Amino acid sequence: MTATDSQRHERLSHVLPLGSRVDARGHLEVDGCDVVELAREFGTPAYVYAEDDLRMRARAYVDAMRARQADFDVLFASKAFPCTAAYRLFAAEGIACDVASGGELALALRGGFDPTRIYLHGNAKSPAELNAALDAGVGHVVLDSFDDIERLERIAAAREVRQAVLIRVTPGVAGRTHAAISTGQADSKFGFGMDDARRAIERLRGSDSLDLQGLHMHIGSQLLSLDAYRPAVEAIATLGNFPVYNLGGGLGVAYTADQQPPSIEEYVDVQVRAANELLGRGKKLLIEPGRSLVANACVTLYTVQTVKRNVSTWVGVDGGMSDNLRPMLYGSSYEAFFADRAAAAGSGERCHVAGKHCESGDVIVRDVPLDAPKPGDILVTPATGAYGHAMANNYNGIPRPPVIFCKDGDARVVVRRETYDDLAARDVV
Ligand code: LLP
Repeated sequence: MTATDSQRHERLSHVLPLGSRVDARGHLEVDGCDVVELAREFGTPAYVYAEDDLRMRARAYVDAMRARQADFDVLFASKAFPCTAAYRLFAAEGIACDVASGGELALALRGGFDPTRIYLHGNAKSPAELNAALDAGVGHVVLDSFDDIERLERIAAAREVRQAVLIRVTPGVAGRTHAAISTGQADSKFGFGMDDARRAIERLRGSDSLDLQGLHMHIGSQLLSLDAYRPAVEAIATLGNFPVYNLGGGLGVAYTADQQPPSIEEYVDVQVRAANELLGRGKKLLIEPGRSLVANACVTLYTVQTVKRNVSTWVGVDGGMSDNLRPMLYGSSYEAFFADRAAAAGSGERCHVAGKHCESGDVIVRDVPLDAPKPGDILVTPATGAYGHAMANNYNGIPRPPVIFCKDGDARVVVRRETYDDLAARDVV
């Protein structure tokens, strides 16, 4: 590698999984696995995760909390990557889990999470979901509306159990992020506004079957500034004194080389400091990161099918909005480069990486320099580990990609590729 090549690689390196490198042949290696070989073995598109990266980020959260707070739990916000192998890995790391539906609850249980360390969220939980949670013996249900309170109270009373609950509060402080993933503002479909939260707290004080242990907030996702957390904690501090506080997730990640999100350590420091100063010492503090545990652990591999030059250069790949909806939903940017010439990342002809779906908005990366693109090239987009597999779909009858876990040079399939038979598996004809 020349000096310039290695600088280019360094520029990319913080969006790639920890431990990624470019080998002597110029191929990208993820957790010891040559991704060109992975593409050959498992096909494309494919989500490729570095197991060590997932583990190291979980440990970074736990270590940062442990250094500052006696009583705490780190929850995996599993909506970011709801897959049995991920649940299993994080359960083995000893962290807790948040689920946002009956389906995520079923997967978390299947993945081996201790039900008492599962927290059920949801702004529109059904009676079936609440019943499933109580059947499983989940530790906490996070209440989101007065209807939720009524419903869970009836269900718990009928079972003659007392269910531990938290109240989700929208503190009226919104994190700076895309409007679709900002959740702390007063006018939100999530949680109780400040006045309603006071009423809900009063209401629960008199409940025999619901045991109010504390408050929950989550002010937004992909936050690249930590400024909003302290004012949000300040707001919920006015609601009373509780033994448990869940401060949510939201720490942003780097999708492109120019993004420099706060570190896990900085994030935890701001949250714990604000909690200790404003809510009081000796509380049980919960945080529930999703994206920042899993996003950078993964790269997606595609194969270039076509290169078309008209006004722009369009590099057409074998996936798109069925495996990564984020560019279409939030205008998100990604890096892209070729797996077998990873050192050339950041140089070449300006291209748009287009998906194979039948709409013009299906562009995964815009205006990215690519080194002499041609059909058959394996294209890598890093930082696709959060909300990629989670939001994958079958638009245009495209089977969803497999999930591959890599560890120390060994790769295994933890979710297999969908088949055409799978596409018709639910049809009743
Ligand atoms: N806790 C609650 C209650 C949440 O609603 C969320 C995310 C999290 C924790 C985890 O937030 P994170 O640490 O991942 O930022 N599909 C969107 C993201 C939606 C986030 C929804 N809630 C995306 O791809 O950006």
